[in-house]
Amino acid sequence: MAKTPEAVAEFLNSERLAVAGVSRSGNQPANPIFKKLRDAVLEVYPINPRAQEVDGVECFPDVASLPVRPYGEAKTGAKLREIVCMLLAGLTVSTLLCCGNLQRPLSATDDEIWEDFEQWVEGVLESPAEERASLQDLYIGYLVESGLTAEKAQWRMERIIDLRGASTERERIYWNAKHKLGDGPAEPLTLVREAARDSPPGKALDVAMGNGRHAIYLALLGWETTGYDFSPESVRAARALAAEAGVNITAVEASHATFDFGEEAWDLIIVTYPYYDTMDSTWPPRLWKAMRPGGRVVFQGVAESDTTPEDFERLWQPFDLMRCEILDRGEDWFEGRESRTVKLIARKE
Ligand SMILES: C[S@@+](CC[C@H](N)C(=O)[O-])C[C@H]1O[C@@H](n2cnc3c(N)ncnc32)[C@H](O)[C@@H]1O
Repeated sequence: MAKTPEAVAEFLNSERLAVAGVSRSGNQPANPIFKKLRDAVLEVYPINPRAQEVDGVECFPDVASLPVRPYGEAKTGAKLREIVCMLLAGLTVSTLLCCGNLQRPLSATDDEIWEDFEQWVEGVLESPAEERASLQDLYIGYLVESGLTAEKAQWRMERIIDLRGASTERERIYWNAKHKLGDGPAEPLTLVREAARDSPPGKALDVAMGNGRHAIYLALLGWETTGYDFSPESVRAARALAAEAGVNITAVEASHATFDFGEEAWDLIIVTYPYYDTMDSTWPPRLWKAMRPGGRVVFQGVAESDTTPEDFERLWQPFDLMRCEILDRGEDWFEGRESRTVKLIARKE
């Protein structure tokens, strides 16, 4: 059986392509290629320095002007240029037409990308829990085994991160897989340790507790602790880890929208990387209502690029901010990533 050359196979798997040499009148060899590819590939960009549009599609003067990168960070320009050159040489054209590969869609749509991920997650959830593992590494490994290039697998993983934000259900599927794999920091944050050290134990709430690292840490110090999270795997993990540590915690499966915070119910509320918008102004009043007088919120999360401590002071009124620090680096869940971190302790007088 004839074997498709690797470069051609990679080309046939493309989701974004550029076609150079298309003309407005449609009389260039590149035009039928452009049309054929447009029917089969997710996104095809025509390139012609003198045309505004070709066949109703916006045209770009050169590769550098394209609005997107195909995939991967570093050598994206090179990748597109390679494809463009192959087309110009006519090499790919004949191969494509001979293979008949253009009869089927060449690329996965966003829905297909997500469905594939969701199916993979089902497999993860059904498998016995093993050593802690990184979801990202495992999924990329699976994609490469399925035949994608490493670069494309990485691109797909990044797409999953974008696509999961489309609904709470998708977020839950994503987090379920993370928690099943034990993917995430296990040690309590220094900020939480310091805050817990400074006050006698009482009732504590851990918001979106993940694997329950803070709920369990506080329970070990004698706090009566409740944590909630919308991921059933998070609740399972937190219960199992609490049993391993020999402490009781109340672990509730609930979302930010459904959890009942109560009124003046807590002495300490832990909110660390909670997956709501850090500047969401509905949260401080919600936490204020739930907090007993004299109680404190310990908050650590991602700060937007332009936020200042004064922004947080305004946002958290009428809490008294005992501490508010913004760092120009990612920590913990965002370690090693380009990010900013806000740490604050807010007291209800
Ligand atoms: C980055 S993890 C942080 C977990 C934990 N607070 C910690 O610091 O380790 C984000 C957590 O938020 C949970 N989560 C995301 N959206 C949520 C929602 N709408 N309601 C409840 N939990 C949510 C996820 O399941 C995940 O456990």
